[in-house]
Order: sequence, then structure tokens, then C-alpha cells
Amino acid sequence: MSEFSPVAKPEFEVPDFEPNAVPKHIAIVMDGNGRWANARGLTRVEGHKAGEAALLDVVAGAIQAGVKNLTVYAFSTENWKRSPDEVRFLMGFNREVLRKRRDQLNAWGVRIRWAGRRPKLWLSVISELKAAEKLTRNNDTLTLTMCVNYGSRIEITDAINAITEDVASGKLKPGSVTEKTVQKYLNTNYLPDVDLFLRSSGEQRASNFLLWQSAYAEFVFLDTLWPDFNRTTLWQAIDAYSGRDRRFGGAVDKPNTASSK
Ligand code: IPE
Ligand code: IPE
Ligand code: MG
Repeated sequence: MSEFSPVAKPEFEVPDFEPNAVPKHIAIVMDGNGRWANARGLTRVEGHKAGEAALLDVVAGAIQAGVKNLTVYAFSTENWKRSPDEVRFLMGFNREVLRKRRDQLNAWGVRIRWAGRRPKLWLSVISELKAAEKLTRNNDTLTLTMCVNYGSRIEITDAINAITEDVASGKLKPGSVTEKTVQKYLNTNYLPDVDLFLRSSGEQRASNFLLWQSAYAEFVFLDTLWPDFNRTTLWQAIDAYSGRDRRFGGAVDKPNTASSK
């Protein structure tokens, strides 16, 4: 059994969450690798390397908790702004992690999917993503969407372009586009809305991640840097989520009888 077993170990006993306290879809901005490394006198890429174990352990913890969809931000459409060395490292690293971990994830029943754009992305990364998708396509324990070269605004823009093409060719009637139509044209159309939007490292922003899908997500920001994350940190976030009052715009009248005259 590998060190990243999804099977409960005594020190990793999954809390007894109520079934509807567990989010159906968790989105994670895996942030803080560079700061983790620099704080140890290491270069940024060492932080990315250390993030691999965190991801595997978080996937295991999500399976244990009964989460069905986990979507992780691995490389944004804005991350091309980083130094050529870091970009090159991240491309090669994503490819190697997929190659190295796909059998293990497959054995856990994980379905791997890719969300993101082809332009600029290394072809070797695309082919590794496609191979992982193919290998794991019949799995249904948990869907792990790897967002590589992903940006939410461009995802929505691409959807708009596809919609206008279908209007022009007569497949769609002008004026007939609904929220459901837009959802259908997104790259991530197979995913339910995000329930829990989680970001590590203390930053409190969305950074162009799943903006449409997170319209009613609960946001949890933890100070833990991504390489220090593990399944117990994930469960801490699920616990915070379970205490939230999700109203979706509705309201329930509950006058406090003790304070009324
Ligand atoms: C997240 O960590 C990983 C990627 C964006 C690829 P960072 O590299 O952003 O680490 P910080 O935020 O600089 O510490
Ligand atoms: C978001 O983190 C992208 C990923 C985690 C892949 P960044 O570190 O790139 O975001 P900003 O620049 O702090 O907003
Ligand atoms: Mg960052």
C-alpha cells in the first residue's frame, strides 16, 4: 500500500460529516508554493515539487470524505507571465506528475479530466492529459479536474464565440440563449456548481478561477501554504463549509421571540 493510501489510517480518521455537509464540488487554488520554498532558502520550483504530495493526500482525503468532484488550479492563463525557467519547469512538472501518478489515481477510482485551453500549452502536456483522461474514463469514485492553462474569462469568452457560431449557422435561435445554454458551452460543462471554493496561502482572491461556476460557492481561505496542505487541512475546510448558512438569495423569517415585547 502506498504512502498516499485513501484508506483511513488511525491518524487520518475522517470526521463524521453529515452527508449534506460534504460539498459535491470543491475547487482549490493551490497557492503558496513559491513562498513555502523561499522561506526555507530554496528556489520556487522546490515549492512546486513539494506540492505534489499535498495534492495526492488531498485527493485521498476527498475520497474518504465522499466528495465527488475536486477541481484544482495547476496553471492559469496568467501564469505565462512568470520567468521562462519557472514556466518551463511547471510544464515539465505537470507532465511528469500526470505520468507518474495516473496509475495510482486510476487504482483509487479517480476520473482525471482536463480543463483549459490548447493555445500555448505544451503538446507533450496535452498528450499526457489526454492519456490520463482516456485511462481513467470509466472511473466514478471522484472526478479530479486538472485546470492547466485555464482562465475563467477566456472559458466564458470561448463559450460565447461557440454560441455565436451556432446562432450564425442556425443551430441556435437568436435570443434563445439561457444560463443553461452558457453552462452547456463551457469547457467544464460536466461539473456541478462549485460548493466550496478553497484557497491556500492566505490570499483572498479568485484569480480568474471558475467565476461562473462559483456564483454561489462558499469561500474558505486558509493561511496554510499549499505544500503544507494535507487531507486534514481539507477536512478543516469542509468543517468550516458545513457551518455556513447557504441561502441562495432566499430568506426565512425567524423572529427572536425572547427579544420581542
Ligand atoms: C501556486 O504557487 C502554484 C502555481 C501558481 C503554479 P505559487 O507559485 O503561486 O506560489 P506563491 O504564491 O508565489 O507563493
Ligand atoms: C493562481 O495562483 C493560479 C494557480 C494556483 C495555478 P497565482 O499565484 O498565479 O495567483 P495570483 O497571481 O496571486 O493572483
Ligand atoms: Mg501564488
